[in-house]
Formats: sequence, C-alpha cells, structure tokens
Amino acid sequence: MIRLNGKNKLRTAIFISGNGSNLENLIKFSLLKKSPIEVNFILSDNKKAKGLRFSKKYKVEKKIFLFSKRQKAESQILRHLKKRKIRLICLAGFMKILSKKFIKHFNGKILNIHPSLLPKYKGLNTHERAIANNEKYSGCTVHLVNSKLDSGKIILQKKVRIYEKDTAKTLRKKILKNEHILYPKAIKKFISNL
Ligand code: GRF
Repeated sequence: MIRLNGKNKLRTAIFISGNGSNLENLIKFSLLKKSPIEVNFILSDNKKAKGLRFSKKYKVEKKIFLFSKRQKAESQILRHLKKRKIRLICLAGFMKILSKKFIKHFNGKILNIHPSLLPKYKGLNTHERAIANNEKYSGCTVHLVNSKLDSGKIILQKKVRIYEKDTAKTLRKKILKNEHILYPKAIKKFISNL
C-alpha cells in the first residue's frame, strides 16, 4: 500500500512538450474529489510548449528543463521532484526519452500515453502509419515507462475505428478524445494496484 498525502492524493508531476490537452484533462481530473492524484508540478523540455499556459490557469508550478545535456537535466529534475515529494510522473506528449537511472529512481511510477494500440506503431507519426497500412482500428495506450521507447507494461488500451474517410488529422482528433477518457481511468487502475 502506498502512502498518500494528507488529502489522500498522490503528489503528481506531468511532463509535456507540446499542446498539453492531456495535461489540462489530468489537472481537471485531479480536481475531482474522488481523484487519487494531485497535480503539483508541470515540467517541459520546451519553453514554447503551449501547454505551459495551464500553469497559470490552474495555479500549478511549472519549470522548463532543456535536455541538451540529459544527464544534467535529469539530476536537476530529480532534485526538484524530491523536494516537492512527487510520487508519480505522468508523461503527456513528452518528447524526450528518460534514462534507465532516472526511471529506477521512481520505482516504476512513471506512466505514458501513446496514440496507438501498442505494441503497434511505437514512436512518431502513428496515425499516418496506421492509415497507410489500411488498419481498421487504431487507438491509444497507457503504459508504464521503461528505458525502451513505448515498450513498458500496458495498463489500459482503447480501440478506435478507422473509417475510409479518415485522415491523419481526423484520426488524431478522435484518438485524442479517447486519450482524455483513458488516461484518468488508467491512473485510477494503476494506483489502486499499488
Ligand atoms: C498525444 O496524442 C499523446 O498520446 C502523445 O502526444 C500527444 C500529446 O497531446 N504522446 P497533448 O499535448 O496532450 O494535446
């Protein structure tokens, strides 16, 4: 059994690189009374990430760590997270690969969301590749992070139908909507099994 904070919520950091729609969705989820998480920290490797605006909107501390020197960035991040007693990391469109050492420090408590039915279509351009291969279904996956790209243990997946008229853009939109449902569900499942 894990120890939660006073309000019974797990202190969580969200890592982003871009738009941050999953970030906003997770913050909203965290504000629900029954949510098992509290979002205390937003981290980005990209100072232009649009999602950083949610820091002000929801009054959550943010910080940018440039990854030009990964080792240095990671040890600074670890110090920050420790100071803030962060117990869970949720990657949400974070475009950097974290080292084995960093992951080990969190005892496996790092989750990621990926816009495909893993193990299919790891990496980038998932929607384009699924359409080019005439797949009938794609979807999204929440998984544990390990040191290999998009390869950790799967927590939950959601299938999304691909129709002939779908383009990468329409598919991305449909899958993103499903990501917003799946990520909170997967977090609940993951935390209830800790
Ligand atoms: C999502 O499709 C997520 O699955 C992938 O990156 C995208 C991030 O979108 N890892 P957003 O920044 O949360 O809007």
